[in-house]
Amino acid sequence: VRVAVLAGGPSAEHEVSLQSAQAVLDALPKELYEPVTVIIDRQGRWPVELRRGLADVVFPALHGPFGEDGVVQGHLETLGIPYVGCGVLASAVAMNKVAMRRAFLAEGIPVTPYVWFTDHEWRTTTDHRELVKPLDWPMYVKPAGLGSSIGVSRVTSVDELRAGVDLALTYDREVVVEQSVTAREIICGVLGGHDAPEASVPGELIAPGDWLDYEAKYLSPAEIAVIPAALPERVAEDVRELALRAFRAIGGYGLARADFLYEEGTGRLYVLEINTMPGFTSRSVYARAWAASGVPYPDLLRRLIDLAFA
Ligand code: DAL
Ligand code: MG
Repeated sequence: VRVAVLAGGPSAEHEVSLQSAQAVLDALPKELYEPVTVIIDRQGRWPVELRRGLADVVFPALHGPFGEDGVVQGHLETLGIPYVGCGVLASAVAMNKVAMRRAFLAEGIPVTPYVWFTDHEWRTTTDHRELVKPLDWPMYVKPAGLGSSIGVSRVTSVDELRAGVDLALTYDREVVVEQSVTAREIICGVLGGHDAPEASVPGELIAPGDWLDYEAKYLSPAEIAVIPAALPERVAEDVRELALRAFRAIGGYGLARADFLYEEGTGRLYVLEINTMPGFTSRSVYARAWAASGVPYPDLLRRLIDLAFA
């Protein structure tokens, strides 16, 4: 079986994708699969043209807009090549933090308070505090459609809000502002098809500073995850159940990683987001959560490729 691994792409998460793709290429069981590397450069150019006949199945190890938001998935649909992971709609919904929250709220999945606005609404408003009136400081400002904490700021004043929104608007015309809650950051992996997807043991992310920015996620060598997370059994069960509900809410398929906030004092759990192509090296929390759940990385790859054909 020839597996084309898509790597790179034009999104701001290009570098992260190269790491994910390399890890997949290194770990694909060679007795089963023949890997084909397909690099997509930062301009979105494909050095190898993808067509039926080049590969039997595609592993889009791409993060962010273009590769994780349904665009490449739609391209693969038109080519008629099976691919790993979520389809067009789930990918698109999960890549946009506004659409994703609407899906969660419609299904009764708890999310933190937030507001969103467009570039135009921001530019034509003079009272910027008014736009985020329902929220208290500190807040997180995020471009609606990106990942890996790129373009994200933690803000504690109107001046910082303005700077944060200016930055976020360089990545997307929609901006989400979220209430910051003091909480532990929990993740949970989902694996499976539409019928009976499974949830991994939860993991916990430890922010070295105030929060997990891009540097903490990818550049700092410090250990930032505890897997399995030290949680009461009841909370761990709630995390797993909510992860599956979030997966269902977006219409997920194959894999996703649900990210949570757990407010210890109140016992509240919030779903922060769901990522349809989470960071995917063998050291990534998604893979480690599955390894701790009895599915080592090469088996994870095999199951995902089987699901692509199912
Ligand atoms: N967006 C990054 C790759 C993640 O969610 O892991
Ligand atoms: Mg994300």
